[in-house]
Amino acid sequence: MSANNKSQKSEICKSAESILGSEVYAENVDFWNRAWGPVKTAYTQMPDLPYLTLMMSELASKAPASVLDLGCGSGWLSILLARNGFEVTGVDVAEQAINLANDWAKQESHTINFQVKDMAQLEFAPSTFEACVANSIFEHFPIELTRTIFKQLKTIMAPNGVFIGCFDQVGTGPGEYYKLEDETHVYTDKGRKGMLLRCYSDEELVQIMTDSGFKITHKETFESGTRYIVAIQKSAS
Ligand SMILES: C[S@@+](CC[C@H](N)C(=O)[O-])C[C@H]1O[C@@H](n2cnc3c(N)ncnc32)[C@H](O)[C@@H]1O
Repeated sequence: MSANNKSQKSEICKSAESILGSEVYAENVDFWNRAWGPVKTAYTQMPDLPYLTLMMSELASKAPASVLDLGCGSGWLSILLARNGFEVTGVDVAEQAINLANDWAKQESHTINFQVKDMAQLEFAPSTFEACVANSIFEHFPIELTRTIFKQLKTIMAPNGVFIGCFDQVGTGPGEYYKLEDETHVYTDKGRKGMLLRCYSDEELVQIMTDSGFKITHKETFESGTRYIVAIQKSAS
């Protein structure tokens, strides 16, 4: 990397706008489109994750009228939510992921509002959602964008709406990458070129949610290192 390039890269993390307008971010979006592009058939198996029962019973107890699934991929969590009777909107930046999600929903005759959308630039009306779920997705954002997303969630979620996030421990495996100033890894190896990955500490997650007006009501770490966090949107009244 040239010295000039290096200083440009160190500028990126300064604000959400500088990240969103950067080549690094555009290459990250390209990565996700390349990753999903060749997948032609929806993989319709549910993953065996230890927190799914907890998540469904938490949502059942709150009975939200509408649930947002952030970074829904090919839609397994949205489908699971629809099977449990929830009205769901799923967003993902990769068009082919959303095509696959729509195929799967159609196969099961669910009506799910899947949209190709960048979750760092959510444009929904205030209080649109009474719940939001996010599985293995925030690890792909620099910290300034995660802060921005939570601020947007505060607005688009209804007061007392419930957020349920599952945050993986990442970034310790092999690979070629360089790091942005906030420790986000930018992968350069062929298979993952452009992908962003950042490991969040528990303290960072708690701080971001609290600063954005969410009250954490449950936090648990599973054997895999995944943090399962439930937080309630507390509007200033
Ligand atoms: C690790 S996968 C997780 C997918 C799904 N939540 C799951 O649990 O299987 C990350 C997903 O986030 C999507 N994604 C990455 N950046 C995004 C962005 N800026 N906005 C919306 N979706 C994004 C990717 O296309 C991919 O489907």
